[in-house]
Amino acid sequence: MLCYHCMHEKGDVMTCPYCHVTNLPDSAPHQLVPGSIVGRRYVIGRVLGEGGFGITYIGLDMILRIPVAVKEYFPHGYSHRDQTNSRVIPTDSAGSTAFYQKGKDRFLFEARSMARFFREPGIVDVRDFFEENNTAYIVMEYLEGVDLRHYLRKNGVMQPKEAIEMLMPVMRSLEKIHEAGLIHRDISPDNIMYLNNGSVKLMDFGAARDFEDDNKSLSVMLKPGYAPEEQYRKKGEQGPWTDVYAICATLYRCITGKTPTEALDRTYEDDLQRPSEFGVEISTELESVLMYGLAVRKSDRCQSMTELIRLIEEALTEKESPQYQPEDLSYQAYPASQEPYCPPEQAYFQPPYGYPSPIPEDPYAELRGDRLSDSFNGFFDKLSDKFVADPPQQSGANEMQQALDPDNMLINPDADPYAALRSPKKQKKHKPAGDNPYLQAIYDDTDDPFSH
Ligand SMILES: Nc1ncnc2c1ncn2[C@@H]1O[C@H](COP(=O)(O)OP(=O)(O)O)[C@@H](O)[C@H]1O
Ligand SMILES: [Mg+2]
Repeated sequence: MLCYHCMHEKGDVMTCPYCHVTNLPDSAPHQLVPGSIVGRRYVIGRVLGEGGFGITYIGLDMILRIPVAVKEYFPHGYSHRDQTNSRVIPTDSAGSTAFYQKGKDRFLFEARSMARFFREPGIVDVRDFFEENNTAYIVMEYLEGVDLRHYLRKNGVMQPKEAIEMLMPVMRSLEKIHEAGLIHRDISPDNIMYLNNGSVKLMDFGAARDFEDDNKSLSVMLKPGYAPEEQYRKKGEQGPWTDVYAICATLYRCITGKTPTEALDRTYEDDLQRPSEFGVEISTELESVLMYGLAVRKSDRCQSMTELIRLIEEALTEKESPQYQPEDLSYQAYPASQEPYCPPEQAYFQPPYGYPSPIPEDPYAELRGDRLSDSFNGFFDKLSDKFVADPPQQSGANEMQQALDPDNMLINPDADPYAALRSPKKQKKHKPAGDNPYLQAIYDDTDDPFSH
């Protein structure tokens, strides 16, 4: 006998030796009865989940003998099931049949959207699609685990770093989805599966659509707290930033245990508290990035998943690298007389004057000690000035060779011309933030040596 809870062959015993479940609750009249067969090869088991437009069952692929998840198109309120033959019938009311058919086409779009990302680690794999019982079915790999909403309910909050590590594969997959011109539009903990091995996968492309699609139908159900304000408006401009908001809201939920205030309410009065206000241990940098992703207005928000990932990674490295805290005694200020010379173009990438470089090992220190005066950059400036005035094809390569001869190189013994190369992150930090308050929080100019 098949256990309709886990789809293992359990033999003649009542209690399944695999999942230890004895009895399944009776299925509701609108659901398929366990043991039904669809697509001539999939046995239907218990219901895994049910949303506005579909019912997802566990199933067994009788040919390959593997469990699968089977999602059936079933728009609640627009259809019912004929229990004599399992057929799904659109409700007999004006416009219902047209709506039903349109939804079924959308369901195929959902399957095709997922199928485009087959084998993408952060996305559930689609195995099959077919029509039957006057409705349609998507067959997916069965993900063994619980959805993130249930996982968080059971396990409580996560550390920011842990939550980011967990969600990063989904963020990277979203980057690919966006590159392909698609937006998911329904990211939330209940559409992310937390697998038993600790990894996560994104499911439910039921609301996905092409960016360029002008049909901004509101017929998808919005998840309060996860859907940004543009999804509530017919004319709201949706794009990758829409998914950025939802994934940041999901991160927020993971680390605070709270669903963010509903976006529409935030447009009147933005009372969204920062995670640190709940006592979450999070660096200012990381918190600023999270709040940037959760900016109410699209124009204030982080625009792409690529940018979000980059900012998160920068914020995390920032936290791990040494901090330039004047009160930290390990960073004694130089007496003014011994302040190291630092050409302005390099000062940009270095800690404020008066503090030694936090970069411990400098493979070029010895090399630089042997040579004198001027900086690398100044040297190359002179070189290029010369070539503008006196192009090399006329003056001859000889000059250039001479100039490039290491013995002719003049390098300041104290300045480190490689500083910029060894801490390129610092350079990015000093991007102008304009008057966007979220960006200003990230690109904090107070540690800019020129602003002192
Ligand atoms: N491939 C899968 N493997 C295991 N469980 C799944 C799978 N797909 C969906 N589920 C479960 O079914 C629930 C509903 O599926 P989902 O695709 O989100 O449909 P809905 O449109 O009803 O929200 C999910 O929250 C999850 O618990
Ligand atoms: Mg769902």
